[in-house]
Amino acid sequence: MERLSRGIGGHTATVGIDYAAIGARREDLRERHVLPRRSLSSGRGLHHFALISSDMERTILFYQELLEFPLTEIFENRDFKGSSHFFFDIGNGNLLAFFDFPGLDLGPYQEVLGGLHHLAISVDPATWERLRGKLEMAGVPHQIESGASIYFKDPDGTRLELLADHLGEMYGSRVM
Ligand SMILES: [Fe+2]
Repeated sequence: MERLSRGIGGHTATVGIDYAAIGARREDLRERHVLPRRSLSSGRGLHHFALISSDMERTILFYQELLEFPLTEIFENRDFKGSSHFFFDIGNGNLLAFFDFPGLDLGPYQEVLGGLHHLAISVDPATWERLRGKLEMAGVPHQIESGASIYFKDPDGTRLELLADHLGEMYGSRVM
């Protein structure tokens, strides 16, 4: 199966890269910038994360029926005539939003600098199992890592991760 994403799963190494220097740089940044006494975040949470859809109904079926994220609202995009803006509840007061851009003829999803790598959404372990089964039944190619992450793509190629870790935890340890 095609690797769903570079940098997800396995340990792909590239020839000619100085991994020791990269590791030292990472450690230096961690020491200087992960502060022992962290201040409060200025943010209140993720209001919405906006993605692009090429087919609204296909996107709705995928997110609402398959992944069980309820569609909460749909209205015209104030900034682009004919475009729709629609939202799914991904829990914890957070929304996943979409735009379609009829007539704009956008190309396929690409991994680029400044672009999206993947979007991770936390679900409880029982839900994780259920959704894994549904993805399998629906024939959606997916990749499981660490027994807690499922990586797959939405119908437009956006990479998603469902993880059984709690918010603020990764690989069993706290990241915030
Ligand atoms: Fe992730």
